[in-house]
Amino acid sequence: MTTAKHDVITLDGPAGSGKSTIAKRIAKRLGYAFLDTGAMYRAATWWALHQGVDMNNAEALVASTRAIPLEMEERSEGLYVGVDGHDVSQAIRTPEVTNAIKKLDGIAGVRAKMVELQQHIGTQQPTVADGRDMGTVVFPNARFKFFVDASLEERTRRRSEELKSKGIQFDAEALKQDIHIRDENDRNRSIAPLRPAEGAHIIDTSAMNLDEVEAQVLAIIEASL
Ligand code: C5P
Repeated sequence: MTTAKHDVITLDGPAGSGKSTIAKRIAKRLGYAFLDTGAMYRAATWWALHQGVDMNNAEALVASTRAIPLEMEERSEGLYVGVDGHDVSQAIRTPEVTNAIKKLDGIAGVRAKMVELQQHIGTQQPTVADGRDMGTVVFPNARFKFFVDASLEERTRRRSEELKSKGIQFDAEALKQDIHIRDENDRNRSIAPLRPAEGAHIIDTSAMNLDEVEAQVLAIIEASL
């Protein structure tokens, strides 16, 4: 396959749709870099909490995001995320951080900084970018765009399986409610809301397994190369 330095494939979709796993697999198959932009919003949130920034002060959140000493690196054991020398690869996935992201993700100055970083990273090498606004805002000229979706019930089921496999206790109804709240926040924010980009291939993965989703995405890419 012919690739160019600026090739970008975007995968957007709601929490639990499986887009990150698919994005990672596609990146591996094509030899592209994988850009997890959710991890960047998570890191910015962790950094603000860690520094004791007032989470209701938009200006302070923009300032802390603009100054974030963020490091991201794909390693054999998974994505390494570092902030100011701290390994936060796991810490950014805690419920405390997940629930606080909504304090930042609707702030224009925060998003502007993220978009700048993401566009910079995406132009270094062919990249598969995963997030909410990759096809709509960050890489509107991406070579391929996908919107990966699944029903709330199915996404909740997948997340439950994941937590069970890690031996983490949870309340099923509260989990569904958390995912629903995150959906509402992602879809309804006034800036960069979650929605399919123009020209995006929409894939409903509710009744598909990961292998099937991967095969469908690759088939679409290969058919147009
Ligand atoms: O993808 P992940 O679930 O890790 O994303 C966590 C949160 O980060 C999302 O729910 C959303 O609030 C925010 N996010 C965003 N824009 C992106 C990626 C993530 O606002 N491109």
